[in-house]
Amino acid sequence: TWTMVNIVEEQIERIRAQIGDRGKAICGLSGGVDSAVAAAIVQRAIGDRLTCVYVDHGLMRKGETEQVERDFVAATGANLVVVDAEKRFLDALSGITDPEEKRKTIGREFIRVFEQAEADVLGDAVTGEDADKVAFLVQGTLYPDVVESGGGAGTSNIKSHHNVGGLPDDLEFELVEPLRTLFKDEVRMVGEQLGLPADIVWRQPFPGPGLGIRIIGEVTRERLDILREADAIAREELTRAGLDRDIWQMPVVLLADVRSVGVQGDGRTYGHPVVLRPVTSEDAMTADWARLPYEVMERISTRITNEVAEVNRVAIDITSKPPGTIEWE
Ligand code: XMP
Repeated sequence: TWTMVNIVEEQIERIRAQIGDRGKAICGLSGGVDSAVAAAIVQRAIGDRLTCVYVDHGLMRKGETEQVERDFVAATGANLVVVDAEKRFLDALSGITDPEEKRKTIGREFIRVFEQAEADVLGDAVTGEDADKVAFLVQGTLYPDVVESGGGAGTSNIKSHHNVGGLPDDLEFELVEPLRTLFKDEVRMVGEQLGLPADIVWRQPFPGPGLGIRIIGEVTRERLDILREADAIAREELTRAGLDRDIWQMPVVLLADVRSVGVQGDGRTYGHPVVLRPVTSEDAMTADWARLPYEVMERISTRITNEVAEVNRVAIDITSKPPGTIEWE
């Protein structure tokens, strides 16, 4: 619609006015809609002076990294640096079963890896004779976040941003927030307007620590692969049933330290259960368990137990939030 075209044009002009020819910008992509749309707008505004960074922590769902690497790049033409940090994250997570410790570990590693990438990307651009002295950091902050944090209009400088090793001390970091005036549904419309892949534009909420907090027990590559397969089936069937927009999100949780006896063909099995956690919600602050149609539950259960060898039982979580949270960890 013309209003969407206007919003996009207006944001592009605003970003051009802010950045001008003062420097280079960097944007971290998470695989979600906000960072993708923010990056796409800045790309339109300043082209090659934007570099996107995607940290592959190995905790993403099936196909998500490819959506960023291939489809996002094809749609936007943006410069993208992918940091393959799977081994680093898995090493750091080795032996950890406590949920908070997992979150802290993933968060800490993420900042380290991102800052290193930032230094690598900006290092050449901002050092030397006639180098830029401003580095712009693009963030997908939405209007509700701005209101919640009591922030006023305009842009904020975060000079004390962080001490990225290898960058000059007098380098200024300045925030660029192209989505500051938008609500989530507007962000999705802008994303469509910009031709971003539907899988990214319509992706349901997914936590930063990824599948790391959906494996109850230690996170290992093998367990991640099992969960990725089960989760892909559940998402596929939800989409096939046309329920994506009715269900807020549906985590699939692997009870990796639990085993249960089953029977398949002539044999006894001793595998793991997965739990489906479909919820409806307005804002994730509260949630209700979703009454999935029986046929959909049946298809998901049959397919997961047939197609994922290590899973022999599918359970469904019927707890509201509160008292349950949406995620299990
Ligand atoms: P809970 O489990 O607290 O989740 O009911 C509420 C919403 O937040 C998401 N979530 C996260 N999102 N980083 C994120 O970006 C996180 O660490 C994180 N933990 C939970 C969750 O998926 C749900 O949408």
